[in-house]
Amino acid sequence: MNEVQLFPEQASVFAGNVDQLFWFFMLVAGLAGTITALLVLAFAIRYRAGAQRYRHSPHHSLLLEIGWTMPVAVVVVALFAWGAKIFVSLYSVPDGATEIYVTGKQWMWKIQHPNGQREINELHVPVGEDVVLNLTSEDVIHSFFVPAFRTKRDAVPGRYNRMWFRATKTGEFHLFCTEYCGTDHSRMIGTVYVQTPQEHMEWLREGEDALVSLADRGGVVYTRYACGSCHAEEEGERGPGLENIYGKVRQLADGSQVVVDEDYLRESILYPNAKVALGYKPVMPTFKGQISQQNVNELVAYLKSLSPDRAKQASLGGTK
Ligand code: CUA
Repeated sequence: MNEVQLFPEQASVFAGNVDQLFWFFMLVAGLAGTITALLVLAFAIRYRAGAQRYRHSPHHSLLLEIGWTMPVAVVVVALFAWGAKIFVSLYSVPDGATEIYVTGKQWMWKIQHPNGQREINELHVPVGEDVVLNLTSEDVIHSFFVPAFRTKRDAVPGRYNRMWFRATKTGEFHLFCTEYCGTDHSRMIGTVYVQTPQEHMEWLREGEDALVSLADRGGVVYTRYACGSCHAEEEGERGPGLENIYGKVRQLADGSQVVVDEDYLRESILYPNAKVALGYKPVMPTFKGQISQQNVNELVAYLKSLSPDRAKQASLGGTK
């Protein structure tokens, strides 16, 4: 890993496709550039000052016009279609992917695994399994980039961005922040460890006795902030019940609708009056500034665990 590499390793299901498209693009651009340069040279010689040839040259050639525009149009449309296909595969999160929360902060990556394992600037994932990262930020925009996976996505304050991948080889791979985010942006780097499923299970179990799952941590946060004193399933409560709401359409007081996803849950914790459920008054206090992003992630995981059937469809927020 120490020698200078022109190209990073191919270590995810996207890598081969992205590289093929890249090289095809290079080929097209190289051909177009070469042909143009040669024609410039040829015309410069043929029609140089003093040459007589241009006097009776034709003004227009339909065959020539069609002959050069059509092949170019076909190639450009093919490039678009090919790129769009890869783009869609990058952004369509498959069902059942393991969900990991990643929070960017000047200048580090904080990572929370579903079983409660946590790490900073390191990400351990199993090979051959789908993983989806719920990316967000505590301060400014960062961007999570693993060159060997050929995928990246911004970590934006105030929303979850979902990024998925399936690693295809074990090993250690560079992780970069690829959005300028201040003084130590260049040091906001880390390592992705792709492990065999067996190794990964063992890694996840390290310190098992002290581990509390993300959803259970969220339950503790829920109790600490006394969310349950208003949110209950009974009639006449001040807040709507929170069971089996994930993935469902919710009617709002202003007549619009919203699908309950990670972003809606997060927003409703930090900005409760942004989208008030139908039949309720905007009486919930904001928890912005009182609750850490890690706690919000835990609460969201807890609320999703209250909708066990829906939460399994991990791709809800990723494909809308
Ligand atoms: Cu974080 Cu650049």
